[in-house]
Parts: sequence; C-alpha cells; structure tokens
Amino acid sequence: MIKTSHDPKIVIALDYANAHDALNFVEQLDPTLCRLKVGKELFTAAGPQLVEALVAKGFGIFLDLKFHDIPTTVAKACEAASRLGVWMLNVHASGGSAMMEAALEGVERSGRKPTLIAVTVLTSMDQQMMNAIGVAGSVADQVLNLAILTQKSGLDGVVCSAQEAPTLRKVLGDKFCLVTPGIRPADAALDDQSRVVTPSQALALGSSYLVIGRPITQSKNPLETLKNINKEIL
Ligand code: C5P
Repeated sequence: MIKTSHDPKIVIALDYANAHDALNFVEQLDPTLCRLKVGKELFTAAGPQLVEALVAKGFGIFLDLKFHDIPTTVAKACEAASRLGVWMLNVHASGGSAMMEAALEGVERSGRKPTLIAVTVLTSMDQQMMNAIGVAGSVADQVLNLAILTQKSGLDGVVCSAQEAPTLRKVLGDKFCLVTPGIRPADAALDDQSRVVTPSQALALGSSYLVIGRPITQSKNPLETLKNINKEIL
C-alpha cells in the first residue's frame, strides 16, 4: 500500500501554457500525494481562476511569481495572492528586508497564513553575471547572505539547490523551509537540468520540499511515477 502524507513533499511544477492542459494533467493526480507549483507562464495565461480551481480540488498550491518591487506593491500583491488560498508564495530576497517585511505584512493582512519564501540567487546566474550586476562576492556567499536576510526579515524559507541545502540548513536551523528544484529520480532524463540529485538525496541534504516537473508531467503514467517517488522518500 502507498503511504500518503498530510504534508506531501513533492511539488509538481505545472509548466503548462494554458488552463486546459494543466487541468487535464491534474485530473490524474491526488492531492494527498503532491502539491502543485503554478509559475509565471501558467498564471499569466490562466489567471487567478485556475489557482482557485486547483485550491478547490484540495491541492496545496505554490504560487511561484517571485515578486520584486517597491514594498507597498509587493505587500499588496502578496495579500492578493494569499487570498486565493495558496499554500506557498515567494518574493526575491534581493528586494531587501523592507520589501520582505512588507510581503509578510501583506500575507498576514490576508487572514490566511501561507508559507512565504524568497528566491536568493537565480541558478541561471553565474559568477560573471553576478559581477556584471555589481555583486562582488561569490555566488555561494551571496546565496547565504540573502538567505540570512530572508530569515531575519521573518520569512519562512528560501528556494535553493540541493547542493546549497546542507550549508543553509546548518546556518539557518531545522525549521527554515528549503524548497529545491533540480530533482531527478535515478532513472529519469536530465532534460535541461545539469546538477541534479535524486528525491531521497535531496531530503538527506536538508531539503524540505522537492519541486519536480518533467519527470512527472512527461511520464506515461504520472500517478505511478509520483507514487514511486513517494515510496522512495516516505
Ligand atoms: O521539469 P523540471 O523538474 O526541471 O522543473 C523544475 C521547475 O523548477 C521548473 O518550473 C523550473 O522553472 C523551476 N526551477 C528550477 N531551477 C531553479 C528555480 C526554479 O528548475 N533554480
């Protein structure tokens, strides 16, 4: 028998272009086995109605819109996102502590309490790109600095790679939420990811939740793939 969890660790990236394709896929899933991530493409195409429809089906939704603006604007955006009933949402830590504190106030004003996390350094950025935007230190130092700032600002966690997780876990403690993409089951294709770990390796490295897209969305049998991953980690 497959064990289920009140706190599913797998967050499936719904990287679809429209609501129809996303809902077709979601029909095959069970909200006790996973959560769902809605990002900028799907949200821009399908809007808050889709998010509300997914929430109504019982899924925990990570609204991955990475807000980054002046504090008042981010606060209002976070309040509006929280009112949709999402489980998790995020902002860019590089917006600074005033912006992150405003984001938290916005979340609290909604009367709901979704988990609020921050993006530190996008993994698409390398050292050269960081230097070009005026950041002198190493990528690893900048990730750590921004994660510490995130925690000081009162947020719940950060998005990070599994490789960054052990250091962040050590410095930021057991309760800080680490959400990690770049996960591939041992038998899955890499797609365009380069540094990947398996689901159980990611948890062993300190991840709290695992964002997984194509290994499940492109699977011939998504539910079976999801159940197999849960079997590996529960
Ligand atoms: O299909 P795959 O498992 O690679 O999808 C991973 C998801 O996580 C995608 O939605 C991708 O945009 C997101 N992501 C990532 N790496 C990051 C941040 C987000 O792969 N550093």
